[in-house]
Amino acid sequence: MMLRTADFRTRARSRLPRFVFDYVDGAAEDEQCIVRNETDLRSLHLLPTCLRDTTEQDMSIEVFGQRWAAPVGIAPVGFAGLVRPGGDAMLARAAASAGVPFVLSTASNERLELVRSGAAGGMQWLQLYVMSDRAIAEQMVRRAKSAGYGALVLTVDVPVSGMRERDLRNGFKLPFRPGVRTLADLVTHPAWSLSMAFAGSPGFVNLSDGTGKTSPQLQAALLARTMDRSLTWESLKWLRGLWDGPLLVKGLLHPDDAKRALAHGVDGIVVSNHGGRQLDCVPSTISALPAIVQALDGRVPIFIDGGFRRGSDVVKAIALGATAAFVGRPAIWGLAANGEAGVAATLRLFIDEFSRTMTLLGASRVSDVQPHHVQKNV
Ligand code: FNR
Repeated sequence: MMLRTADFRTRARSRLPRFVFDYVDGAAEDEQCIVRNETDLRSLHLLPTCLRDTTEQDMSIEVFGQRWAAPVGIAPVGFAGLVRPGGDAMLARAAASAGVPFVLSTASNERLELVRSGAAGGMQWLQLYVMSDRAIAEQMVRRAKSAGYGALVLTVDVPVSGMRERDLRNGFKLPFRPGVRTLADLVTHPAWSLSMAFAGSPGFVNLSDGTGKTSPQLQAALLARTMDRSLTWESLKWLRGLWDGPLLVKGLLHPDDAKRALAHGVDGIVVSNHGGRQLDCVPSTISALPAIVQALDGRVPIFIDGGFRRGSDVVKAIALGATAAFVGRPAIWGLAANGEAGVAATLRLFIDEFSRTMTLLGASRVSDVQPHHVQKNV
């Protein structure tokens, strides 16, 4: 029975070849941060307030003039097409049906225009990586604008790639060359192998070098995360010149950076440690949240991701001042397990658990969830 997001992880593990599962599941170096993200969330307790009238419930929130069905969304995940052909579109459609936003990665495997038109009426944001050739980013931002993306999310925690040891051991790089171990992996996962054989190897189709072409070198550079290391806060002006919609930065942990982001005119931030895939020895996002909430004092929405596995985790983040939480791996486990229906099922789990937790806490509206509902475990 698929009763918790962890059940989807178990199914993803059996359906995916090891090198794909490890790409999703893995993190940097000793993989301590990913554990911290989860255990720090779990170690917070919720203090219910009883005998409140919760007959009427409203889980919705309003962000940048749009209504979300609940304060949860899907974080950008590159290479979703490797998990399942058409994965990006499936994630977008499942989010649209659930009434929550989906953030498309720069490293997606489907054209951003198609993802948007395939999930019409939904909320899609575009995550941006800025590589050394800034013309690539400029072109993507222009396309996102004309396709109607609702927000631009600049990821700032990848000046270089984190050391993902599982990927290195598995030989996971572009161009992909299957070794003996990978071949055995492919043979023992025939459903995945056949689906890929029919779909063809997924490429980073949104990368274009200005001539409209996506070169193999550029694709390899994106997989190796060769970014523009000269990017600074001043560079936000350049982005502002290209994008007049909501602009967010993703990957902040330091309260001073949050203040700096605000001073540079961002419309929101995402507190994130990239799901533990970058610097391993950083704090969990939930432990970094309170100082950032205090620093920003309600002036812009604060989103968070990293380790959210249950609706009650989302309630805890809201209680500590977040506007909403994004989920990365759980959505991908749903995608691996059962395509769009699997993603829809994981989102439903989050939303149902969020609803039940709110009621058990004595909260009818999201704004009723307050810091006094959270108790630090001693
Ligand atoms: C990511 N993440 C990510 N972030 C981003 O800004 N651009 C990207 O292309 C990717 N790609 C990516 C691939 C995979 C396989 C994973 C697991 C994650 C990070 C992602 O947006 C988010 O910050 C974390 O996934 C949140 O942690 P959880 O929910 O996975 O624990």
